[in-house]
Amino acid sequence: MSGFAAGPDPGSVHLWFCPNEALEEPLAETLAAHWLDEHEHDVARRFMFPRDRRQYLVAHVLVRRVLSLVTGVPEAEAAIWRSSRGRPFLRSAFGEGPGRPVPDFNLSHAHGHNVVAVGHGRRVGVDVERTDRAAERGLEWIVQSYSPEERARLAELPPGRQRDRATLRLWTLKEAYAKARGLGLGLPFDSFAFELADDRGVLRFRPPDDDTADRWTFVELQPRPEVLVSLAVERGAENSGPARRLFVHDGFPWGRSTPRELPLPVPHRSPPAPAGPGRLIRPTPDPRRRP
Ligand SMILES: CC(C)(COP(=O)(O)OP(=O)(O)OC[C@H]1O[C@@H](n2cnc3c(N)ncnc32)[C@H](O)[C@@H]1OP(=O)(O)O)[C@@H](O)C(=O)NCCC(=O)NCCS
Repeated sequence: MSGFAAGPDPGSVHLWFCPNEALEEPLAETLAAHWLDEHEHDVARRFMFPRDRRQYLVAHVLVRRVLSLVTGVPEAEAAIWRSSRGRPFLRSAFGEGPGRPVPDFNLSHAHGHNVVAVGHGRRVGVDVERTDRAAERGLEWIVQSYSPEERARLAELPPGRQRDRATLRLWTLKEAYAKARGLGLGLPFDSFAFELADDRGVLRFRPPDDDTADRWTFVELQPRPEVLVSLAVERGAENSGPARRLFVHDGFPWGRSTPRELPLPVPHRSPPAPAGPGRLIRPTPDPRRRP
């Protein structure tokens, strides 16, 4: 099932990628006027630069459209609350219950690109970055926040494009995980570590001390040549098991368009004994994947 006509599939995660251009400015303004809540209007009023306001409006109109597609609740009626650390959650309009978990969602928006992820009965976290960001500012300041093993592996790469790309891949993965946890930058980025596969994908994940590797799956996407997206997906409740399928939607979701389906890697394996600091866990091979 790729849409929601038969109800949400707890084994699926959906991701919507939408550049600002996919929603013309006057339309974004009109939809925002009708759909956003007090808090969102308040934030939108405070932007000094039209570019930043536009980014915010498209991102939040997108969130409300996606939540409406997922729940069937009209865009303006989705009740969104925010944790003390600012993580938005959907308040159920139809009552939470067994087999009817409130969808979890997460938003990332940067430099003209917007991404919303939605999971059912599991936390999701998402981050989007542009790969040309390195040219603007240099990335050394970011690397200083990484774990020792990540810094050591980056230092082995030749300076320039290859090292910058690995640095940004780590950044988006770290943000996606920290956002799934709801901690954002409040989670020290040196308290957990990723080991990257050459082009895309995570070979190993060392979680922070208060978490286990087997709770998480990570996916990297490149929806445009200059855009990196990382997604963190929680395993979910005991009875729901890991998510199996990822559906990627491109553009503003006016209708139930057919998304692209991608397999999700199985969660990373936890060690039999408590993990010590610096220990990295290999992901379990996915039996569904052909060699
Ligand atoms: C979440 C955070 C990492 C965002 O980083 P970013 O790369 O600048 O922005 P992104 O576009 O990827 O994500 C922004 C979106 O993430 C969501 N978000 C905000 N706080 C979040 C959190 N703690 N966890 C998960 N998602 C969060 C929001 O939807 C936000 O969009 P909005 O501000 O337009 O509503 C960063 O803002 C942060 O660490 N916030 C927490 C701050 C905190 O702890 N505050 C405590 C009270 S002072």
